[in-house]
Order: sequence, then structure tokens, then C-alpha cells
Amino acid sequence: MTVRVLVLHGPNLNLLGTREPSIYGRTTLAEIDAMLVARGEELGAAVTCLQSNLEGVLIDALHAAREDGTGAVVLNGAGYTHTSVALRDAVAACGLPVLEVHLSNPHAREEFRHTSLLSSVVRGIVSGLGPDSYRYGLEAAVALARRALG
Ligand code: DQA
Repeated sequence: MTVRVLVLHGPNLNLLGTREPSIYGRTTLAEIDAMLVARGEELGAAVTCLQSNLEGVLIDALHAAREDGTGAVVLNGAGYTHTSVALRDAVAACGLPVLEVHLSNPHAREEFRHTSLLSSVVRGIVSGLGPDSYRYGLEAAVALARRALG
């Protein structure tokens, strides 16, 4: 059975490819999204990707995911990971398995990145593996969404 997975990208991730490439690499967001859609097809999952620089848009997308048959969420909260109680509350409220992903390893970076407000309310975390963080996050999301269907 096809499951639906929502991939949410937070602020500044639209600049991937040219943004601090020594940290985030040269892969663009469009390339990551295309990879995720293709991997989803292999796994029998319909993948929808959304990027926003606005906290409220990410929160609204999590609210919508509760109602529209989405089975799991892959979330790179980017900078909001470290600051947003509101995004954390939306993750907790959505009632879906959420996989937190990061391209870089925030624990190997500045101290302010060592705290994630999301980590205590997500099902799992993948970080430090570049675009593969998203790939493994998606694979886990599909497995969790399937398991929930029984
Ligand atoms: C990030 C890590 C965050 O600390 C940072 O603010 C980002 C991207 C990552 O994918 O490595 O914007 O989430």
C-alpha cells in the first residue's frame, strides 16, 4: 500500500548548493527533493516536499499533515531546530512519526547548535551524512508509516 511522507525543509535550505558549501555541500535542494521522490517511488511511498523560511508555514504544514493522510514526516528544521518552541509544539501535536534530519552534524559545530528543541519529540534523528541524512530519514519514515497501518 502506498504511504504518504511529507518532507519539510526549514529556513535557508533553499540556498543549498551555494550556501556555505564546505559545510552543506554542493547538492541543491531541488536535487535532494528529486532523489527523495525517486527513492519514495522505489519504496512505494508518495513523497511531498516543502521548503519555507517562515516558521508559521512549517507549523501549518504539520497541522495539515494530521488531516490529509500523511503517514510520517521528515523534518529539517534548520535554524528553527535550535530556537523554536512553536515548531517543537507542532511536532508534538501532529501525532505522526517525525524524523529529524540534518545535513551537517550540529554536535560537531558551534555550541548553540548542540541543543535541539525538536529531538525530545521526534521518533529518530539522522545527522551528519549530507543528503544521505534525508535518504535514511525517508527510509525510516516509510517503515514507520507502514508499521502504523498494520
Ligand atoms: C542544519 C543544521 C542547523 O544548525 C542549521 O541552522 C541549518 C542546517 C543542517 O541540515 O545541517 O540551517 O539543520
